[in-house]
Amino acid sequence: MPKLTILPAGNSAEVPAGELLLAAGEKAGIDMEAGCFNCSCGTCVIEVVEGMENLEAPSPEELDVLDQWNKDSDKFRLTCCVHIKNGDVVLRQSH
Ligand code: FES
Repeated sequence: MPKLTILPAGNSAEVPAGELLLAAGEKAGIDMEAGCFNCSCGTCVIEVVEGMENLEAPSPEELDVLDQWNKDSDKFRLTCCVHIKNGDVVLRQSH
């Protein structure tokens, strides 16, 4: 199963492939920041340190929100929009 790790706390959890990043983070015991849960507000933005290739490609809606927040979609994703495909992922919370 894919393993999600969240820095700086370092909590991790093994989650089923296809798990939403937001839900995976909660399973790791992290209080995940979120607002709309609908890929439109940007509150849930998080840095992807490793494993971007193990995440779904961004939707046009996600790219729009990342752009509004001036976040590079090669490094940042919205946890309420993205599912883990397979393999391990490391995220870093900044707030
Ligand atoms: S919670 Fe609003 S974009 Fe993710």
